Amino acid sequence: MATSKHLIAPSILSADFVNLERDIQMINSSKADWLHVDVMDGLFVPNITIGFPVIKRIKKISAKPLDVHLMIVQPERYIDAFKEAGADNLSVHIEASVHLHRTIHAIKDAGMKAGVVLNPHTSVNLLEDIIADVDIVCIMSVNPGYGGQKFIEHTFNKVLQLKKLIEITNSSALIEVDGGVDISNAAKLFDHGANILVAGNYVFSSKDPVETIAGLKSL
Ligand code: DX5
Ligand code: ZN
Repeated sequence: MATSKHLIAPSILSADFVNLERDIQMINSSKADWLHVDVMDGLFVPNITIGFPVIKRIKKISAKPLDVHLMIVQPERYIDAFKEAGADNLSVHIEASVHLHRTIHAIKDAGMKAGVVLNPHTSVNLLEDIIADVDIVCIMSVNPGYGGQKFIEHTFNKVLQLKKLIEITNSSALIEVDGGVDISNAAKLFDHGANILVAGNYVFSSKDPVETIAGLKSL
């Protein structure tokens, strides 16, 4: 059953960039909770996506909070710039952050929700000493870099492990899952303890994206 802790974050990576305003208005009119924005630098991941000028324009027309997912090296260099561009949540990869504790607190000090993202090979156990500090943990259910990839089944185990860690430590962190999410795995992810599901290809390639978002939201 849908609870207020079940959030849906469509990823604009799969939007039509020639008609970005139209697609963002569609998200505005939908039951989506956040707008997921993927930033890639061609170093941390092979792909390059968008930067500050585009995010600033998106912020101007988005009625939904911007959930910015940084797939960049040394993300600490750009915390203030992403705040200025309009990020509400800022998530950095654990694999890209040498001083994660400092980075997480700098994100919070800048006035954003702070998230940490784990690649598929990265163990949830590595979060033991940071889980109390973060607002969001995002588990990648594909290898980051592209939309439309196949969901990695082992993600279910990681969500369960993370849920346990959050309970044991009394942390208030929310669990986000990103990559290959669709109607075949969404309910099971929520049942295992996920709070936020990111969906790109599944939403934007569907006939009626507003309905598709409503379908995920109703789970
Ligand atoms: C992948 C991105 C995802 C992606 C999800 O590197 O982080 O947010 O847009 O897209 P789908 O749902 O198509 O896998
Ligand atoms: Zn993402």
